[in-house]
Amino acid sequence: MITEIGEDIFRAKQFLDTDELVAIPTETVYGLAANALKIEAVSKIYLAKNRPSFNPLILHVGSKVELKKYVQSIPNKMERLIDTFMPGPLTILLPKSNLVPDIVTAGSSKVAIRIPNNQLTLDLLNQLDYPLAAPSANISGFTSPTSAKHVLDSLEGKIPYILNGGNCQIGIESTIVGYDDMTHRVILYRLGGLSIESIEACIGEAMETKLQHSSPETPGQLKNHYATTTPMYLGDLNQLIQQFDGKRIVVIRFSDEIQIPVWKQYVLSKSKNTIEAAQNLFSTLREADNQSADVILAEYVPEEELGLAINDRLRRASLNNDG
Ligand code: TXA
Ligand code: MG
Repeated sequence: MITEIGEDIFRAKQFLDTDELVAIPTETVYGLAANALKIEAVSKIYLAKNRPSFNPLILHVGSKVELKKYVQSIPNKMERLIDTFMPGPLTILLPKSNLVPDIVTAGSSKVAIRIPNNQLTLDLLNQLDYPLAAPSANISGFTSPTSAKHVLDSLEGKIPYILNGGNCQIGIESTIVGYDDMTHRVILYRLGGLSIESIEACIGEAMETKLQHSSPETPGQLKNHYATTTPMYLGDLNQLIQQFDGKRIVVIRFSDEIQIPVWKQYVLSKSKNTIEAAQNLFSTLREADNQSADVILAEYVPEEELGLAINDRLRRASLNNDG
């Protein structure tokens, strides 16, 4: 199959209307989209990504009116989050309506749903009479794509069209939250492109956190996601550099360059900004992985704003992760 890249939403629509896959730009990462209401179309996503069938997909819609069709009801706190942050890097998990096929939720009675903040994809969604199911457009277990080129690198020949929306503005996947009907609290399931601080400021209280890497509710949170091909280690750089003395080392730092000579070094944000660091994270991981090095050594970024989500992804990409 030939993989076309373009900016033509009508071309994208043609493929989607005939149950084919299209990679779509979002503000977080590129998604691998199919008509969410067609089982044959959705099953192609699992096949192309080599994704386990128990790992559910996020539903993407173009508006709040559309969103309401696919959930049963929306608690007040969740409504506030929707009004404040959608479109944006937030996914909410709520009981699904009957319109959502089981293949999308991998059999769960809850659906994860979001409105992506990318004009091209919003225009596309508003031309369709169905929502899109879309996981990140990478082969399962590898780094999420933040440009059309990244998508091509891993899915060329497997999908007919990549809708090119340039580089992703946020650069890290959406934050996933749910709601506990008994306690009436908002639950954080996945750290992502919307900070905890912003969410808690909006709802006026702390969230409950359920970030288990393999909880039944978010089975996709497996430990070794985001793996680089080059072995990667995370921690104190001075120590790690000593440990791998004599090896060809690539270093990923948060802000300042390290003075010890290494093969290659990347800085995520010269201005020490976690938003900028998130934007650069996945493209840096890919570039670092392409340097034919023996190891990639990375340091933690500060645990504030998007720093928590960045550290989560670094931990999953590294071999010395602690779970
Ligand atoms: O930013 C994003 O969320 C990107 C863009 C493309 O929208 N999508 C994304 O999808 O990151 P994916 O499939 O790579 O990650 C979705 C996560 C997985 O961990 C999956 O298990 C979880 O969301 N998830 C999806 N539907 C769920 C459901 N019904 N119940 C529990 N977890 C769900
Ligand atoms: Mg993913």
